Amino acid sequence: MFNIVIADDYDLVSREAFKIMRNTVAKENPVLGLATGSSPIGLYKKMIADHNSNGTSYKNVITFNLDEYIGIERNHEQSYYTFMHENLFDSIDIPETSIHIPHGDCGDMEAECARYEEELKKVVIDLQVLGIGTDGHIGFNEPGTPFDSLTHITPLEEQTRKDNARFFEDDISRVPTHAITMGLASIMRAKKIIVIATGANKANAVYGMVKGPKTPDCPASILQDHDDVTVILDHEAASRIA
Ligand code: F6R
Repeated sequence: MFNIVIADDYDLVSREAFKIMRNTVAKENPVLGLATGSSPIGLYKKMIADHNSNGTSYKNVITFNLDEYIGIERNHEQSYYTFMHENLFDSIDIPETSIHIPHGDCGDMEAECARYEEELKKVVIDLQVLGIGTDGHIGFNEPGTPFDSLTHITPLEEQTRKDNARFFEDDISRVPTHAITMGLASIMRAKKIIVIATGANKANAVYGMVKGPKTPDCPASILQDHDDVTVILDHEAASRIA
């Protein structure tokens, strides 16, 4: 079941996402599922501003990130580990030991997938934050990923690597070819999910997620089976469903 919220601009989209985040963070020992990419940056800025002005604490918060590139070091400037520290973790009071991000730079990636899934099974994510790829991916579950997938290694689609080249000096050859990602079944275990999408380039993926057939060709369409998903859009991203 989708609750669709359409806001006028990115700041208002981020504000809507923050309202839901604030309620979750106010709970006792909340577990957050977090995404990287452009879409949640405004939300993370609001979380930091709220922490600074209202003293909202993250000391009891546990986080799990969706994914990480394979083949670049943890401290690479474009790793999701670095992204999360720069855009959120370094500016709030979350203990480093409460942060979980899959490792993309260890020798045995199959073992890392199993380890991460085991860690995930110990918790229930209270609020999962998602962006959506222009090809309908969530996490890095690219089209064709089975709905029952758990944490796994995935090749990145050409389109995804093109979309992300902007973070690698517009040079697609620098964008990693593989990633480790929470699976679709791992994501679906979250109690509550928010999807943030803005811009006309997301309109088709948003349509596929909300109105399209439920099919692995549009991985986000699996969310049609979840009973608590709020999709927060600007008018451009909502143009095919509004
Ligand atoms: C990031 C992630 C991806 C992004 C998606 C949208 O952790 O899992 O699914 O959410 O690629 O990226 P942006 O927000 O940069 O358009």
